[in-house]
Amino acid sequence: MDTQAVIDHLNEILKHEWTGVAQYSQASFIIEGLWREVYASKFEDDAKESFGHAKLIGDKIVALGGVPVAQRNEIKQSKNLSEVLEFSLAFEAKAVEMYTKALELADSNRALVVFLEDILNEEQEGVDEYTKLLRDHNSKTSQLDSSTRKSG
Ligand SMILES: [Fe+2]
Repeated sequence: MDTQAVIDHLNEILKHEWTGVAQYSQASFIIEGLWREVYASKFEDDAKESFGHAKLIGDKIVALGGVPVAQRNEIKQSKNLSEVLEFSLAFEAKAVEMYTKALELADSNRALVVFLEDILNEEQEGVDEYTKLLRDHNSKTSQLDSSTRKSG
């Protein structure tokens, strides 16, 4: 295993997780209207999950002899809930991609592989969940649209 390559990639992952902390927190702060009741806490939970992953990855980077980054990437934000859900799905999908690449770099280090697989599994759950939420949200929106048209 190329330890430096692993550390460098884990730092890219750490940046992504810090981005998640900020992006999901912002989404929970700014959501208004009826959906606030549902999604403010959902986004807050996702911010907490990203923080949990950031903590795991930061500790692992130090264990491997590296220095964790304290930067993040630009966040995506919107007042439009469908857009926020799309951003969230894209965020989770990128995490899956990044942890999958980390697993390739971890190579024959079984303990590191298991460590990364556990997080990868949670990222994939995020992808699955946002995929289903978007399906539900889009179908509800279209149902509302058609009932509005009927009554109008
Ligand atoms: Fe994560």
